[in-house]
Amino acid sequence: MPMPETVSLRINGKELSVAPGTTVAAAILIAGHSAFRRSVAGTPRGPLCGMGICFECRVTVNGEPHARSCQIECMPGMEVRTGD
Ligand code: FES
Repeated sequence: MPMPETVSLRINGKELSVAPGTTVAAAILIAGHSAFRRSVAGTPRGPLCGMGICFECRVTVNGEPHARSCQIECMPGMEVRTGD
């Protein structure tokens, strides 16, 4: 079966198409969001390490909170929520 040329997902309710293999973190940045989550004090936080260690890139994916977006590949129909 041929690989799709793009993968469509929704970020904060808005549809976005990305290349297969794109991480959720990259898709969020492509969509123009910078606040992936909020600290307990309410300050915006975003990816730091890009390799699953810092946990600063956590978002909600398909209703599951605290997903490390730098470690997750975009899948068709995925629903992502950020701290924006
Ligand atoms: S950017 Fe550090 S865990 Fe994702």
